[in-house]
Amino acid sequence: MFKKTTEEKVLRDPVHGYIHVDLQVVWDVINSSWFQRLRRIRQLGGAYVVYHCAEHSRFGHSLGVYELVRRMVSEVQDISNALNEREKVTAMLAGLLHDIGHGPYSHAFEGVTKTSHEEFTCRIIEENTEITRILEDCCEGLSKDVADVIRHESSNPLLSQLISSQLDADRFDYLLRDAYFTGTKYGEYDLERILRTMRVHDGKQLVIKESGVYAVENYIMARYHMYWQVYYHPVARSYETVLHLLFKRLKDLGYENADEHVISLFEPIISGKKISLDAYFQLDETSCGYGFHLLTKHPDPIVSDLAIRIRDRILFEYQDSQPNENRKIRNTLKKNGYDLHYYWAKDEVAQSPYVPYSGSGTGSIWVRMKDGSTKELSNASNIVYSLIHGPEKDDNKVYFPKVE
Ligand code: NI
Repeated sequence: MFKKTTEEKVLRDPVHGYIHVDLQVVWDVINSSWFQRLRRIRQLGGAYVVYHCAEHSRFGHSLGVYELVRRMVSEVQDISNALNEREKVTAMLAGLLHDIGHGPYSHAFEGVTKTSHEEFTCRIIEENTEITRILEDCCEGLSKDVADVIRHESSNPLLSQLISSQLDADRFDYLLRDAYFTGTKYGEYDLERILRTMRVHDGKQLVIKESGVYAVENYIMARYHMYWQVYYHPVARSYETVLHLLFKRLKDLGYENADEHVISLFEPIISGKKISLDAYFQLDETSCGYGFHLLTKHPDPIVSDLAIRIRDRILFEYQDSQPNENRKIRNTLKKNGYDLHYYWAKDEVAQSPYVPYSGSGTGSIWVRMKDGSTKELSNASNIVYSLIHGPEKDDNKVYFPKVE
C-alpha cells in the first residue's frame, strides 16, 4: 500500500553501519528542505567546544532513530506482529521527524524565546509545510498521526513507546552516536542484546525479557555517565551560558542600534512575538555563526564582547555556587564595571539515571519475568533499585568572566 523506492537506498552510518530506506515517503521527507536543515543544527549544542569532534548534526541522529525504529518494527517479532502496515510507517516517520523542530543551540534559544522544540516539531509537521504536503500526498491524515505519536496522543500507545519512553529509539541512538563522536566510551552498551530481548505485553506495552535485565542496567549506567561527562560538562555549560546572555542582551536592546542585516536574522529572538516558521527556518547554526561574526562589530559593548567570546571561545569561569563566595565574586565584578545582568549566571542541573512512574505509563521500563508476570525495572534489578533509592545527583554552578 505504501509506495516503494525504485531501489533500496542505503546510507553509510558510523553507528549503525547502514541506514536502509525503501519507502518513497521516507525518502521524500529526507530530501525536503526542512529535513536537510537539520544538517545545520549540531546534535550536542556547545559540547563541541569541549569534545572537538562532537560536531555531528541532528540530521545524522534523526536518520539513526529512524533506522532503529525500522529495525524494531521489522526485526523484533513481537512488535512486528502487534502493528499493522500503516502503524509501522507512522512510527518510522515519527522517529525520523521527532527532532525536526530543534532550533539553533536549543538550550539557550528556548530559554530566551520561551519556546520549545516539541512545539515547533508539531507545527512543522502539521502547519502546511513541505513536510505536511509530503505526508498528506502519501496518505490522508498521516501528518496528524505522526504528530500524535510525538505528542504521546496516538491511539496506539506502543508507537510512542518506540520513539520516546525510557527505553526508546531516540535514547538508543543518541547515546551511541554521542559516545562515538565525543570519543568517550561511557555511552556504549549492548544494543543488539536489548533488541533481542524486547517483547510486547498485552499487545500494547513494550517489555524486556528477564534475561535482558543486565543489558538494560548497562544502558542506564551508560546514560548516567554520559550526562555527567558530556551533556552536563561544566565548560559546555559555560558556552551555553554566554550564548544565553548574548541572546538575552539582544532581546533587551530591542531594535536600537543594530544593523538591518543582523536584525532580520535575529528577529525571532528580538521581537518577542510568535515566531513564524519562515523566520525559524532562516535561523540555524550556520546563519547564527555568521550573525555572531557581525555582532562582534556591534556598537553595544556588551553585545560585541559576548559575541567575541562565542566566536573565539573566551568562555566564563565557573565554580560551585556558595552564598559567601558568590557575594565576593559579584562585588569584584561590580568593581570592575561588569553589568551583572549579562556577566553573572547560575546554572543548576540535576539528573536521575532512571525514574519510574507509577502506573503503566510510558515512563517506566517493564520486565517480563520467567513466570509470565511483569515487574517494573527497579523491582527486577538490585542495581536499579539502589540507584533510585539513593540521593539525586545535582550540580549548581555560577558562571562569570575572568577578572584579573
Ligand atoms: Ni532525539
